[in-house]
Amino acid sequence: MPAFVRNAWYMAAWADEVPQGGFLARTLLDEPWLILQGGDGRWAMMADRCPHRFVPLSRGRRVGDGVACGYHGLTFGMDGACVFNPFGREVPPEARVATLPLVERHGGLWFWPGDADRADPATIPDFGFIDDERDCRDWLLMDVGYELIADNLLDLSHAEFLHVETFGVNGSLFECGRQTVETDETGAIWNKWDMDGSRAPDWSVPMVGEGARVDQWLHIRWHAPASLALFIGLAREGTGRADMVVPPMANPHILTPKSATETHYFYTRGHGEEAAAMARKVFLEEDEPMIRAQQQAMAGEDFWALRPVILPSDAAAIRARRKLMQMRREEG
Ligand code: FES
Ligand SMILES: [Fe+2]
Repeated sequence: MPAFVRNAWYMAAWADEVPQGGFLARTLLDEPWLILQGGDGRWAMMADRCPHRFVPLSRGRRVGDGVACGYHGLTFGMDGACVFNPFGREVPPEARVATLPLVERHGGLWFWPGDADRADPATIPDFGFIDDERDCRDWLLMDVGYELIADNLLDLSHAEFLHVETFGVNGSLFECGRQTVETDETGAIWNKWDMDGSRAPDWSVPMVGEGARVDQWLHIRWHAPASLALFIGLAREGTGRADMVVPPMANPHILTPKSATETHYFYTRGHGEEAAAMARKVFLEEDEPMIRAQQQAMAGEDFWALRPVILPSDAAAIRARRKLMQMRREEG
């Protein structure tokens, strides 16, 4: 399995997953971490392993802004330094846990596992479209690798086969889809499907009328290593996308490896049980089983070594994989 890219922002959690006055323990990039917030609002991400006898610090408890180990009581502050030793005044200087930069943006907590002096929060991908009122932040764990999930999202033509039941797509993508792949000034790769003058999806017929045509678009944006955003629109035909049938949708699909073959998937959905069930159906009953079968069929072989057939619809996914390869090369 290729190494994880280090000099990049990854999302660790939604901020509201972290209990107030407590901590969240999560494995990220194959390592156990603790996430906590100090009384002044600052965030910290500390290795979840005590440097004394290596038990998880998450078996301990919060003491002020720090964490006291549940085994022998060494207490660590938010900067990772030991601040209290119950066995005497001396604090051994090597009693310290690793920390990573952690920044809150748009309700997400982002960490930088590479060179700390290169961690510029201005380069965290923009998810400012997340709407606090409309969107419910959610998370799930998929037991498939993040690159295969990113491939899946970067080529939405699979919806015509895999999501027929849930999205009710009707072949518009093949009938009149126009694909544009581009890299923007932030380095993000876009795959844009525009379907002008397409047959209206069945669910929209009550709104647009029988036989009406619509302009639809499905645009997806990828930031390395695997932070994606999906933008969907449906407008009455020929209105320059002004007369929307339903309000445009924007959703994060932010992927962070738990390990090479398991992925934390951060997304938003509508409020309520029905929206939650629908999202889980799409992700866990449609996408995940297919990607898991793909992962098994690839049997740990490198993607390129298997010499995949490349279709034009793969252009964005291939560009993203190349970008990751280039970043790994730069990191040696
Ligand atoms: S293992 Fe943590 S203080 Fe001993
Ligand atoms: Fe999908």
